[in-house]
Amino acid sequence: ESLAAFAHTLEAWYERARRDLPWRRTDDPYAILVSETMLQQTRVETVIPYYQRFMERFPTPVHLADADTDDVLKMWEGLGYYRRARNLKAAMEVVRDRHGGRIPARPDELRALPGIGPYTLGAVLSIAFNQPHPAVDGNVLRVMSRYCGIEEPVDLPSVKRQIERDVAEMLKRGTPRVLTQALMELGALVCTPKKPRCALCPVAAGCAARARGLTDVLPKRLPK
Ligand code: ADE
Repeated sequence: ESLAAFAHTLEAWYERARRDLPWRRTDDPYAILVSETMLQQTRVETVIPYYQRFMERFPTPVHLADADTDDVLKMWEGLGYYRRARNLKAAMEVVRDRHGGRIPARPDELRALPGIGPYTLGAVLSIAFNQPHPAVDGNVLRVMSRYCGIEEPVDLPSVKRQIERDVAEMLKRGTPRVLTQALMELGALVCTPKKPRCALCPVAAGCAARARGLTDVLPKRLPK
C-alpha cells in the first residue's frame, strides 16, 4: 500500500541523488558506528576528514580498544563532545573482551554497549546489518511528520514512538540499509527545515503537509 510505494520511490530517488560520502562506501559495522557517532552532533562536511583520519589510525574495534585514551581524544580534537569518544573506546573494549572483536548484530548486545542509544542502535542495525530497525534523528522526524501530516509535537514520546513504528514498517517494505540513509538524505537535501525544495521531492505527490499547506509549520515541537 502507501508505505510500500513511499519506500520504493524513496529508494529509487536515493540511488540517483545520494552524495558519495566516505562511510557510504562500506558496510563495516565498526565504520558505520564511528561515522554515526561523529555525525550525531557534528555536520557532515566537518566529519569527513575526522572520519578518514580516525579510520586510518584505528581501523578496527581492537585497534581502538587497545589505543591510549589520550591518542583517541587527540584524534577527536575539534569535534567536541568528548564523551562520545570515551564511550566509543569503552564500547570497543567490551567488543574486544566479550564479542571476539566483532560488533554484535544482536539488538540487546549492541544496546548494552556504552554510548549506544536508540538512534545509534537503529543506524548500525539498519545501515550495517540491513535489519529493519528504525533510526530516527531530527531529519527523519521532520520528513515523517510532514509526509504523514502529523500535527502533534514530535518530541512527545508517544508521537516519536508512532513514527518509529511507521519507519520500521517502511523498512520492512524495502532495503533497510538504503531506506534509512534515503530518509536522512531527503531531510538533508530536500525536506529541509526552512524553504524545503518540494519541487524536487520524489514523494511530494503523497505528502500530507504539502496537500494541506502545513509544510512551514511542521514538525511542531513542544513549547520550551
Ligand atoms: N547524519 C547522520 N547519519 C548520516 C549519514 N549516514 N549520512 C549523512 N548524514 C548523516
